[in-house]
Amino acid sequence: MAFQILGIAIIAAVFVVLKVLNATDTPKVKGIPEIPGIPLFGNLLQLGVDHARVAKNWALKYGPVFQARLGNRRIVFVNSYEAVKHFWITHQSSLISRPTFHTFHSVVSSSQGFTIGTSPWDESCKRRRKAAATALNRPAVQSYMPILDLESTMSIKELLNDCMRGSHDVDPSPYMARFALNTSLTLNYGFRIDGNITNELLTEITHVEREISNFRSTSNNWQDYIPLMRMFSKTNTKAEEYRLRRDKYLTDMLNDLKERIANGTDKPCITGNILKDPEAKLNEAELKSICLTMVSAGLDTVPGNIIMGMAYLSTEHGQSIQAKALEAIQEVYPDGDAWEKCLVEEKVPYITALVKETLRFWTVIPICLPRMNIKDIPYEGSIIPAGTTFFMNAYAADYDESRFKLPDQFIPERFLEDKETGTPHYAYGAGSRMCAGSHLANRELYTAYIRLITSFQITATKDSTQAPVIHPIDCNGTPTSLTTDPKPFKVGMKPRDEAKVRQWIAEAEERTKHL
Ligand code: HEM
Repeated sequence: MAFQILGIAIIAAVFVVLKVLNATDTPKVKGIPEIPGIPLFGNLLQLGVDHARVAKNWALKYGPVFQARLGNRRIVFVNSYEAVKHFWITHQSSLISRPTFHTFHSVVSSSQGFTIGTSPWDESCKRRRKAAATALNRPAVQSYMPILDLESTMSIKELLNDCMRGSHDVDPSPYMARFALNTSLTLNYGFRIDGNITNELLTEITHVEREISNFRSTSNNWQDYIPLMRMFSKTNTKAEEYRLRRDKYLTDMLNDLKERIANGTDKPCITGNILKDPEAKLNEAELKSICLTMVSAGLDTVPGNIIMGMAYLSTEHGQSIQAKALEAIQEVYPDGDAWEKCLVEEKVPYITALVKETLRFWTVIPICLPRMNIKDIPYEGSIIPAGTTFFMNAYAADYDESRFKLPDQFIPERFLEDKETGTPHYAYGAGSRMCAGSHLANRELYTAYIRLITSFQITATKDSTQAPVIHPIDCNGTPTSLTTDPKPFKVGMKPRDEAKVRQWIAEAEERTKHL
């Protein structure tokens, strides 16, 4: 009898322990397939560092929408183009919030607040998103084109010098990082980093923001999913170090702007407009959040796309794409004025298609910024209750064969013939919290392509050990990062007609000398 009681007690204890270890923040959703996992970790071990590719493969077996357990957090993964459309677009007003995570929200963001892209939906987020959306809408972006003129010219000028008439292969990454960062800094603070690609502030901001982007990832921080791990985690110390380094330059840049405003030497910029507007409804914390968003949002994403695009152009197939692009540009601009005209219009459909295919092919945020629904959402007879965390597997949706024929191939032409009238790809996310900077980013990519392709023939590096990895997931040097961090590589850059490129540069310098 005593043995029987002991046996029952052990079974009950095991049951209770399993129940506790398998508990999740939100209960299992009825009718949505669940990936089998193990106690405490759920599916974390199976997902490893490669969430997007593993989830894409699971979708083949479990269907496009399934639920997984990341430690004690229940996540609904959405993996196909149509299923993303259902949740992110049809139900966009329900799927408007964002969940919070321990590492990013409690450690990294404790001083400058959250970026807009990591803020749950509330009145403050609404105000900040509105301010950013107004500053980044189509007409506003058009007025920023002189900044893109200057910054793309500066990067191309330095590339032209460093490639030594095509004899030296170059790593395009720092040139494009400077292009993106200086554009954002000028827009936001009316200030740009002068000097070359080794400038201390440029390298500090690029490095710190990259490290912080790694903390934001859905796969890097197990302590976000297993609370017990927070007691032993080393990541917190590293996260704190980067928070302090970020605080330094953000505070310096804001104080410098305030000083310029006080002296009357400031140039028009987004933060200056807010600071000077007596009607502005944003408090200091909200202003800091906008600054943080503006500095960080385009810093990994814009250069990631441009440099991977350049990597592809350097391949054998890339040579024929460059030839087609050049022909398309010359057809519209036979007088060689594409450098200037690309600032006022977007009239070369092949380049627009090349931009879209670049965004789709590399989908540099493969698992899109997480969302949380504020109202129940129906799906094929099931109801997903409010408060559930959603991951859009943008990589899987952008490689969905029912939307994109031969998704593994880089085919800009697919977007010339595209009949889809809605969101063409999910590199910018979709719906109510879609990227607020997409017009600006599109113009940055379009300008970069027009100017790079007319200036250089981009060729393969002479040293095959420096060749780029093209595959959208394998090219990532930090697989656990939120944003693709391309493995370093080099390309050849051969000026097509150096005298002409120098003339375009001189004209652009003349146009932008007041900036
Ligand atoms: C190629 C470049 C870029 C890519 C691929 C990209 C991608 C994304 C993605 C995937 C999201 C999440 C969308 C969602 O949840 O549906 C996002 C959000 C956001 N992006 Fe971008 N982005 C880029 C450039 C920029 C730039 C240059 C800015 C501004 C300077 C910007 C500002 C924002 C903001 C403010 C949000 C937050 C929107 C919100 O949560 O309401 N992005 N971006």
